[in-house]
Amino acid sequence: MAHELKLVNVLSMHGGDNRRRGDLGAFECTYKAEITSIFPLSATEKLYKIRISDPDERDRFGFRPGQFIMLELPGIGEAPFSISSAHGGAVELCIRRCGNLTNFLDKVGRGATVGLRGPFGTSFPVEHMHGQNILLIAGGIGLAPLRAPISYVLENRCCFGKVDIIYGTKTAEQLIFTYEYDRWRNDEVSLHVVVEHADPSWQGPVGRTTDVLAEIIARRGGTLKDTCAIVCGPPAMFTSVCSALTKADIPMQKMFVSLERRMHCGMGKCCRCNIGSTYTCLEGPVFDYWTVMNLKEAI
Ligand SMILES: Cc1cc2nc3c(=O)[nH]c(=O)nc-3n(C[C@H](O)[C@H](O)[C@H](O)COP(=O)(O)OP(=O)(O)OC[C@H]3O[C@@H](n4cnc5c(N)ncnc54)[C@H](O)[C@@H]3O)c2cc1C
Ligand code: FES
Repeated sequence: MAHELKLVNVLSMHGGDNRRRGDLGAFECTYKAEITSIFPLSATEKLYKIRISDPDERDRFGFRPGQFIMLELPGIGEAPFSISSAHGGAVELCIRRCGNLTNFLDKVGRGATVGLRGPFGTSFPVEHMHGQNILLIAGGIGLAPLRAPISYVLENRCCFGKVDIIYGTKTAEQLIFTYEYDRWRNDEVSLHVVVEHADPSWQGPVGRTTDVLAEIIARRGGTLKDTCAIVCGPPAMFTSVCSALTKADIPMQKMFVSLERRMHCGMGKCCRCNIGSTYTCLEGPVFDYWTVMNLKEAI
């Protein structure tokens, strides 16, 4: 491999430093923004494309794969969402209808005015994965945060070795971003989509992400040396996936997960998101797996 992966502190490389408590001025401002398109992805998820209204603010607004923003519905409240697009310009959010704010959001139309605060948090260290094989593994709505690093890898395809995406849901109806799959495959990516319970219309494999991973590991002779992994999904999934990856020789510092906690301020002030003394909004949501294993009660 041409490049050597540097094992880095995720916080120090993605602007985490300028988000420490006491130095947060820029992140307290809410950008006025407009929903420019809404695309249904499944019965419960929609993709919202959001544009910051002021052109200068829009130009200045940048983010990295894995970061999140706080979305405000005026008069209703705010909630954190991962940015599903790859970089500056359009902010795309894949949002599941599940409670107060997201039910209101489900009813608004194109052109609605919203507020954006952020971006917040750490990101996937994608540049430091250059020269490596990449495994991108998602379960359920975990494809929302994973779509940004997938887009980065595709835009920089020549910088990576083998690229495998594994995506699993309980049923085929729950699959999101289905319209992207052909494009991802065309870009020399091995895409493995798997569902746990198949109805007669499902032609693909049946099982879990861990089953697909076991097949890939077996095909590669039991080892995934020179591979980095990004895993997004429910904690039970990433625990079993990361333990399989560890057995296949990927060091824990080369596996990255995104941890979700209840969040309120997004900037280390409200103490809603902490695991011990670690603030998930500042030092996460992206952590390497070694750090997660050393955070008591992280999973
Ligand atoms: C960093 C981060 C990134 C996120 N990215 C996305 C995303 O890309 N797409 C998406 O749909 N959702 C995402 N979420 C979850 C999202 O923030 C919550 O679903 C949202 O707050 C729900 O708001 P609500 O007012 O509609 O629901 P509420 O009425 O507040 O709650 C509805 C239900 O969801 C549960 N819930 C709310 N927030 C969380 C949470 N953070 N973790 C676990 N359970 C929760 C509540 O306990 C309740 O059962 C993310 C959360 C975090 C912290
Ligand atoms: S969300 Fe307020 S401290 Fe993290």
